[in-house]
Amino acid sequence: MRVVILGAKGQLGSDLVEVFRDEGEEVYPFDLDLDITDNRRLLDTICSLSPDLVINSAADVDADRAEVDPDPSIRVNYIGAQNVALACLEADCACAFISSDYVFDGKKNAPYTEMDEPNPQGVYGRAKLAAERYVASLLPRHYIFRTQWLFGKAGKRNFVKSILRNASEKGYLRVVTDEVGCPTATEDLARIIHSVCSSGLYGLYHATNQGICSRYEFARKILEVAGWDDVPVEPIRYAELGLPCPRPPYSPLDNMNLRLRGFSPARHYEEPLRDYVKWLLQNMDLTRG
Ligand SMILES: NC(=O)c1ccc[n+]([C@@H]2O[C@H](COP(=O)([O-])OP(=O)(O)OC[C@H]3O[C@@H](n4cnc5c(N)ncnc54)[C@H](OP(=O)(O)O)[C@@H]3O)[C@@H](O)[C@H]2O)c1
Repeated sequence: MRVVILGAKGQLGSDLVEVFRDEGEEVYPFDLDLDITDNRRLLDTICSLSPDLVINSAADVDADRAEVDPDPSIRVNYIGAQNVALACLEADCACAFISSDYVFDGKKNAPYTEMDEPNPQGVYGRAKLAAERYVASLLPRHYIFRTQWLFGKAGKRNFVKSILRNASEKGYLRVVTDEVGCPTATEDLARIIHSVCSSGLYGLYHATNQGICSRYEFARKILEVAGWDDVPVEPIRYAELGLPCPRPPYSPLDNMNLRLRGFSPARHYEEPLRDYVKWLLQNMDLTRG
């Protein structure tokens, strides 16, 4: 398969490049060198490569900044996704779009399946949902993957890195109990995406690792795995953080479509987390005071 991967230097994008190459696919990776908001260049580049599949993992993931300054977020997450879909239409290829649990309001009190009605509460979630709908309505050959709480080696920030950085610099943590989800390793997600995109079973998929926890429980697990369980963690409520973006309080994603279509279930998140934390401790400049 000839595969264009957009956002290829990000957390998920870099693992997509690795997994798809390992699987013998012909991969064309782009990041900011092919800006998805530049419709003309995107169209020309994709049409000239004539791929079988384009994976759009490029995004502006700063959901809090999106509340204060929506246009840059909407430009990448919605308009950019439209541009990618239009280029796929023109190049006559399949399109995979990566979306988020933020399309849900988090009030269901049970894991969300692909059949549940979205109700995004913030700009980022609304942009993702609008992009999903655009991709699905324009292209019969689409895959949409909703995921959450990603951790991977590349990319700038994630929760695991922040927990270790703050534990190392401050010696204590305050973490919310009323945000619950499924931590997901980008290497595992990339493998799921490869399996599904090789199947021709187009559609909407919830794709996460197994295991459900609150941010507080996740932080405690990260510290335990690092051997830092002596770091005090104060449980707090999300409202105490005073952040602009409303998070879904309970948004684990039930991987129903993957399960019922017979794809192998992903591992429990604690398995990849162990290797990941070990890797971070060796590669991040962290000291315990
Ligand atoms: N992170 C999560 O926990 C999470 C949860 C649910 C869903 N998702 C979705 O999963 C996907 C992958 O997320 P991720 O964590 O891998 O994000 P990421 O690490 O921020 O990767 C996104 C990449 O896209 C690049 N990018 C930004 N604007 C671009 C543009 N206009 N044109 C081309 N590339 C651009 C980014 O560059 P810069 O970093 O230099 O801006 C970055 O390298 C995204 O669709 C995201 O919305 C993520």
